[in-house]
Amino acid sequence: MAETKKKLRVGIIGTGGIAHAHARAYKNFDDVEIVAGADIIPGKARAFLDEFGWTEADAYETHEELCARKDIDAVSICTYNSQHAGPAICALTSGKDVLLEKPLCVTLDEAKAIVAVEKATGHFVSVGFQPRYGANVKKVKEVIDSGVLGQIYYVVVGGGRVKGIPGHTFIEKDKAAVGCVGDIGCYGLDFALNSIGYPKPLTVSGKMTAHFGKNPDKYKEADRFTVDDDFAMAMIRCEGDVVIDYRASWAMNMDTTGDSMFFGTDAGLKVKAPVGCCWDGAAGDLILYKDDENGQQTATPIEIDGNNVKTNMFECKVRAFVDACMGDKVAPIPTSQILYNQAIIDGIIRSNACGHEVTIDL
Ligand SMILES: NC(=O)c1ccc[n+]([C@@H]2O[C@H](COP(=O)([O-])OP(=O)(O)OC[C@H]3O[C@@H](n4cnc5c(N)ncnc54)[C@H](O)[C@@H]3O)[C@@H](O)[C@H]2O)c1
Repeated sequence: MAETKKKLRVGIIGTGGIAHAHARAYKNFDDVEIVAGADIIPGKARAFLDEFGWTEADAYETHEELCARKDIDAVSICTYNSQHAGPAICALTSGKDVLLEKPLCVTLDEAKAIVAVEKATGHFVSVGFQPRYGANVKKVKEVIDSGVLGQIYYVVVGGGRVKGIPGHTFIEKDKAAVGCVGDIGCYGLDFALNSIGYPKPLTVSGKMTAHFGKNPDKYKEADRFTVDDDFAMAMIRCEGDVVIDYRASWAMNMDTTGDSMFFGTDAGLKVKAPVGCCWDGAAGDLILYKDDENGQQTATPIEIDGNNVKTNMFECKVRAFVDACMGDKVAPIPTSQILYNQAIIDGIIRSNACGHEVTIDL
């Protein structure tokens, strides 16, 4: 008789908004079984599991109870930012691999603690940056990895929403801890850093503003807006003599934060800002700037294979995690990289508070 292949037994911690995208992805995989869910709001995990037809799965009101289950192999952690580090460390120490939503966590110290527990337990955390699976974002990395740009010395990157303050738990400091920078801002950082091979950041000069979120004339939930930022900008010096010029927006009196640009010694790559007001980390069209044999600059649009549909990217990210759990146990989007992303966010917050450039201690 043919042996039935063991399914990956998964629990979902935090069953709010984005947990639904995780659930939709898992639902498509025959080799995954959702066995539990946890949410601190009574009844929320049960309702979520039932909504997806997982009526046999167990519902809990704490992540500790779910993590204590010995028969769970892996978890998706879909809690708000202030509840990333605690549940991730609990899951790792309970012997589970972790798909953790972005941003990695809130502070650099938390990030270092997660990395230390990963090393100690031998289990891994993969961080949920699905734009990496977009065709355009992959193409940017492919072009840069080909070496055509020469040495990259300056990167301009930014993601912008025009009027896109998300509301919900994203604007409550006790839950989200950081605003725009922790929400869409970490995507821009991952795009820039991953494209150029995640150089170690050295210093940051950053500024965060909240001219829209805290103003009742501009934002209807201003009384609930307790995070510090709806816009951020930073200059980030990295190893390899490269500087990243960064901006992120939830709201602005501007149509876009601009195209992303990679300046190299042999050529330059422009990545058009995606059109529309809700930016999710995706990249637009690519144009390569390079001199011809007569020294005249040419602008060549780059063909992209595949499409850039968000739902596919999300499913790719969850699939890559499942494959790693069942296979080589190597995180598709590892904390060794995202630690640098978190270090920059931490640096922007510190620089904003003290009003000058800060060094990054890694
Ligand atoms: N990758 C993406 O495209 C994407 C999109 C949206 C949100 N996110 C990220 O997902 C996270 C959650 O966002 P959301 O919009 O789903 O928030 P949400 O507030 O809708 O859901 C979070 C849920 O976690 C629960 N929770 C909090 N602490 C918990 C704990 N210790 N144990 C169990 N449950 C707990 C809350 O009760 C809530 O139901 C955020 O970090 C956000 O940045 C990612």
